[in-house]
Amino acid sequence: MADKKAVVQVDGKSFELPIYSGTAGTDVIDVRALGQHGYFTFDPGFMSTGSCESKITYIDGDNGVLLHRGYPIEQLAEHSDYLELCYLLLEGELPQAEQYNQFKNTITRHTMVHEKIAAFFQGFRVDAHPMAMLCGVVGAMSSFYHSDLDINDPMQRKRSAHRLIAKLPTLAAMAYKYTVGQPFVYPRNDLSYAENFLHMMFSVPAEEYKVSPILAKAMDRIFMLHADHEQNASTSTVRLAGSSGANPYACIAAGVASLWGPAHGGANEACLKMLQQIGTVDRIPEFVARAKDKNDSFRLMGFGHRVYKNFDPRAKVMRETCHEVLQELNIKDPLLDVAMELERIALSDPYFIEKKLYPNVDFYSGIILKAIGIPTSMFTVIFAMSRTVGWISHWDEMLSEKGHKIGRPRQLYTGYTTRDFTPLNKR
Ligand code: SDX
Repeated sequence: MADKKAVVQVDGKSFELPIYSGTAGTDVIDVRALGQHGYFTFDPGFMSTGSCESKITYIDGDNGVLLHRGYPIEQLAEHSDYLELCYLLLEGELPQAEQYNQFKNTITRHTMVHEKIAAFFQGFRVDAHPMAMLCGVVGAMSSFYHSDLDINDPMQRKRSAHRLIAKLPTLAAMAYKYTVGQPFVYPRNDLSYAENFLHMMFSVPAEEYKVSPILAKAMDRIFMLHADHEQNASTSTVRLAGSSGANPYACIAAGVASLWGPAHGGANEACLKMLQQIGTVDRIPEFVARAKDKNDSFRLMGFGHRVYKNFDPRAKVMRETCHEVLQELNIKDPLLDVAMELERIALSDPYFIEKKLYPNVDFYSGIILKAIGIPTSMFTVIFAMSRTVGWISHWDEMLSEKGHKIGRPRQLYTGYTTRDFTPLNKR
């Protein structure tokens, strides 16, 4: 309901646009009527654009707040686990015990993939990036569920969501096993979600693999911290793809592709490579100077955020988890020293202070993933499988809305106006 109005005065005319307030966050001006007055908005990169109404996740960038269905990420990370968070994101409420057991059982029983999916991997070069494989096989999954893809049927949408949440870890582990030339490992129904992923990643037929509870807890924490984040680039990609009626597997494959970019989910891989490139604490000033140099395209990966102009609350939890995991594993990783010193220097540097550049979710995750034994090339794959629940929750929310429309932005055209074709012999 509009409780305020914006007045637009242009070409001697003036008209009003409704302003809506949410339950929290920035008010929005509804510009849908602007086209009737002969104007479009212009907002490349959507710096000031609300693309939809949502109840799933709220971010307050100035105060470093992240809520999932109203619950602070810090409390969820401490008291909940990834599958319970999946239920919360999908259903809107924390589950009762029976609901939670049923949900866990449903997800567990969807973790296997069709045997024919294994054949898709054989077409990739062994040095193919795991994200390239994930893009391909997630999209291909739609070919196995022809009878269950009616996006207007809430039950079929929910089943697709369960299948995707359950199968992404299996596909991710298959991508890894393919790159290391080891046999694919089937999921086990007696393991938790995180234990199962580590089992599929690291067990080999030749010997018994014992899942470390420390690593499983750290893995589950990583999954939780990447689960959802409002209308980020990849979630917006999934929503736009879904608005055309594309099937959920194709939409999630689009989300995987968008997340892959180093400015987005690819930053965790890029950040660890940057820390390795810096190598030692004494080389940090050289890289900080490069990050500040307008003529150098180098950026400090893991720093900055479109929304957070304060600490990313996930980075704080990630930093604590990082210390816990390295301590519990008795690992002295010099990269952590570089990361801690880089954080200290950057946060005291006027350039970073003025531009409000703080460590984001990707800054510490790479160090934890490396400690768990995950290769760098799999970092963004982990992000993608964690974020699948966020993507599919937004997809489902959008399709549940009455009268949702295909997303079709306009533009400011600055190309040639009409001109006649010039035949080749006259050019
Ligand atoms: C994720 O949207 C989400 O929610 C994403 C995410 C999620 O959970 O889905 O949180 C996950 O993608 C986290 C971000 C991971 N990316 C990185 O760590 C890559 C490094 N960061 C930057 O590329 C950048 O900070 C972005 C892309 C994250 C944000 O870019 P913006 O909002 O478009 O800001 P900008 O690029 O316009 O930067 C503002 C200024 C610029 O300087 P000026 O042009 O104003 O002079 O800050 C500078 C930038 O040059 N700047 C940096 C910097 N990030 C921004 N300078 C050095 N190092 C950096 N990391």
